[in-house]
Amino acid sequence: MSKLQTEISKRCTFAIISHPDAGKTTITEKILLFGGAIAQAGAIKAKKATKHTTSDWMELEKQRGVSVSTSVMVFEYNNKIINLLDTPGHEDFSEDTYRTLTAVDSVLMVIDSTKGVEERTKKLMDVCRQRDIPVITFMNKLDREGLNPFELLEDLEEQLGIIAIPLSWPISMGKTFKGIYNLVEKSFLRFTSGAKEAKDYEYLQVPTLDDPIFVRTIGEDNLHRLKEDVEMINEILPKFEINDYLAGIVTPVFFGSAINNFGVLDLLNKISELAPSPLHRKAQERTVEPLEDKMTGVIFKIHANMDPKHRDRIAFLRICSGEFTRGMKVWHVRHKREIKIANPVTFLAQTRSITEEAYPGDIVGIHDTGLLKIGDTLTQGEELNFTGIPSFAPEIFRRVINRNPMKSKQLYTGLTQLMEEGVVQLLKTVLDNQLILGAVGSLQFDVVKFRLENEYSANCDYLPYDMAFAYWLKCKDSKALEQFKFENGGRLALDIEEQLVITFKGNWELAHIQKNYPQIEFYKTSECKEKDKV
Ligand code: G4P
Repeated sequence: MSKLQTEISKRCTFAIISHPDAGKTTITEKILLFGGAIAQAGAIKAKKATKHTTSDWMELEKQRGVSVSTSVMVFEYNNKIINLLDTPGHEDFSEDTYRTLTAVDSVLMVIDSTKGVEERTKKLMDVCRQRDIPVITFMNKLDREGLNPFELLEDLEEQLGIIAIPLSWPISMGKTFKGIYNLVEKSFLRFTSGAKEAKDYEYLQVPTLDDPIFVRTIGEDNLHRLKEDVEMINEILPKFEINDYLAGIVTPVFFGSAINNFGVLDLLNKISELAPSPLHRKAQERTVEPLEDKMTGVIFKIHANMDPKHRDRIAFLRICSGEFTRGMKVWHVRHKREIKIANPVTFLAQTRSITEEAYPGDIVGIHDTGLLKIGDTLTQGEELNFTGIPSFAPEIFRRVINRNPMKSKQLYTGLTQLMEEGVVQLLKTVLDNQLILGAVGSLQFDVVKFRLENEYSANCDYLPYDMAFAYWLKCKDSKALEQFKFENGGRLALDIEEQLVITFKGNWELAHIQKNYPQIEFYKTSECKEKDKV
């Protein structure tokens, strides 16, 4: 095996998704603890404190130092180098989460077993489905009275369109929770209420379900139910095949309780065993394999630095192929020029350190002074443009009013740069060149206003822009498109790439327009792929 092959096969890059309060922060922390990336619980909780702050952007700003270093967490576990990419807890920054999902090769989905599939999980899974990302599921909070496990599996299938196959099975729940039966290894992990450490739980080998020690531990009633459940699982569910998981068709399901450290170690073991190594990635021109000699990578996130006086930022580069080395000169495809990456950083164990080399699946932080933007491709000379990091349909809008006409240039520069960082989307109306900001969550507007004032000395106000959503549009028939533009100019805008965007007040408007203009195609992302068609 070549060095590159060895490095690639050792790596796994994933993110955790969940609806708020399902337990993502707790699980992240426990995974990092078992992975040796943090020494004690509590480090991530500090960050969580910002989660419920909806109005105070300053608070979030203060926390940004923390969130840069926790954006990517790298640790070694079971001979694997695991890159865990964090996704923002606050739902107003969902777009950031969507983009992070384009940089991972698999995800861990956490479900609150007392609630089942919730709204935000559905949206996040939509994004995962667009790229058929493999998903491992953890049903959390088994120490509480929750839904019947079969109901939970059904919920996944019905609401998320993914076949859920349990690899472990809970024995009772809530106050009478006994533990988890491992359906593959035929072993039992016994839950002890009050135990807090993974080592406090005992494993029992269960060669047959009638094993006397096992029966004594869980009781006759539970045994009876378990036997019925196992029979039902074998009868109605397909056998778990790793290829179906890798294709994103099925999700293996594990049960446990993160707060009690229960089942998380087994989960981490399974992630390190099942989660795919870095996969190929699509570019407009061709598909790029990680094993290719030449380095390629894509910028999927930009984080503004803490110091407003120096407008430097950190751009996150996902390495897609080849070997990246410090000091390397790379080709910036969009600018058509070579740039030198002098001090790339990695994020091992929460501290930023200068990296000497990185491999596919790794994330490298690059200091940037405004040259890089989300979606940019870096190569060793090839004209490649990675796809898959689109803008996502904004759901709320504001019209921007410049409060200081002497600072128009600063305002526009600021808005453009913040847009390049992915803080917000910037649209310009076709008829009268008004600047419209589009966002997924309203906090994004607060961030823009605050940063315009502090970093660009520009002041703006917002006026409502009464639209409910926006889609990108395309039409193969140029005559029909011109006619459409003529008749609907008032609702059209251009995004920063000069692509046409249309805004709607509600679904009824969309339906009306779709009926009257059947040739026009509408898309939920700027890449206008078949899967995103409305
Ligand atoms: P999130 O990042 O997905 O939003 O969830 P987070 O981990 O913050 O967990 C949300 C709440 O659920 C927290 O309680 C947490 O302690 C609790 N929790 C997580 N895992 C389990 C579990 O396995 N069982 C039970 N019963 N609760 C769990 P909180 O009261 O909001 O916060 P805290 O005061 O405990 O920090």
